Amino acid sequence: MTPGKSSILSGIRPTGPLHVGHLLGALTNWVALQDKYDCHFMIADWHALTTNYADTSNIAEYCRENTACLLAAGLDPARCVIFKQSDVPEHAELHVLLSMITPVPWLERVPSYKEMQEQLTNRDLTTYGFLGYPVLQAADILIYKASFVPVGEDQVAHLELTREIARRFNHLYGEVFPEPQPLLTSTPRLPGADRRKMSKSYGNSIELGLNKDQVAAKVKEMYTDPLKLRMGDAGHPDDCVVFAFHKAFNASALPEVERTCRDGSRGCSICKKEMLDHMWERMRPVQEKRAALLADPAKLDAILQEGAERARTVAKKSIQEVRTALKLVSP
Ligand code: TRP
Ligand code: SF4
Repeated sequence: MTPGKSSILSGIRPTGPLHVGHLLGALTNWVALQDKYDCHFMIADWHALTTNYADTSNIAEYCRENTACLLAAGLDPARCVIFKQSDVPEHAELHVLLSMITPVPWLERVPSYKEMQEQLTNRDLTTYGFLGYPVLQAADILIYKASFVPVGEDQVAHLELTREIARRFNHLYGEVFPEPQPLLTSTPRLPGADRRKMSKSYGNSIELGLNKDQVAAKVKEMYTDPLKLRMGDAGHPDDCVVFAFHKAFNASALPEVERTCRDGSRGCSICKKEMLDHMWERMRPVQEKRAALLADPAKLDAILQEGAERARTVAKKSIQEVRTALKLVSP
């Protein structure tokens, strides 16, 4: 821990390979934070189990893949701590202790609890672990005494609950935890190729491991304004996934793209091709670095190992304070 620097924690669930939505929505933002704060970035493999407990065969592989993507995007293990949740058992101890003070109705009220149960109908999510998902997340955050948690909109309710748990803990046992604030990214969310949310489970995502031909095939399938059938037809860029990608990867030419789409002088194929070239410029170095990292799994494992040791140093200290606050140890 560096004195004077606020602590940050964020995490990602290793439930699949990372995609370009992660790169723009989370990773680029994390990279920008790594020098300003004391950053902890976690591969939340226990959180992956809350929904994927019935088939755990890919989790370890995704841990490595996700780690490679974090590093390829520019996170530097010399400037931030990158670790795997299950390597820091102190998270589990804090989870147990926080679970003692967390009322079940608080958990049942979290919107994602019902939403995920409704969406993932092919799994039984009536488990204790799934209900307790936000308590584990609170433990992840509080154990590093994080002041800020860079997350997307969808995690704001979890953060709110983390603050409530911290407040309750501090009230019962004395001031131990700061109340963490979300750090929302300003980048708008990239839609998936079919304009739904980009997600592996919808099959509409563009993974960071794809080569240019594979990315091109995905771009070809992207949803475009259905009223624009041919060159000459006036288009509506607001109803076009390709345009949303131009916003993210080709910002300087955006007014031109918008104007020529609207006046009909732009065709969708050339528009896709141009967007692809800009997108690939951003993706290529990440793709190459990711591939090189994955070719040396022992090195990846060593990075995670070292990260876990550094994370544990902080986590153990917090756990000692917590045990003392609960009078589980004699002072
Ligand atoms: N719940 C987060 C997600 O689904 C992942 C996560 C686990 C996390 N623990 C965290 C995020 C702690 C921020 C802080 O994306
Ligand atoms: Fe979308 Fe481009 Fe076609 Fe306009 S020209 S509808 S922005 S792909």
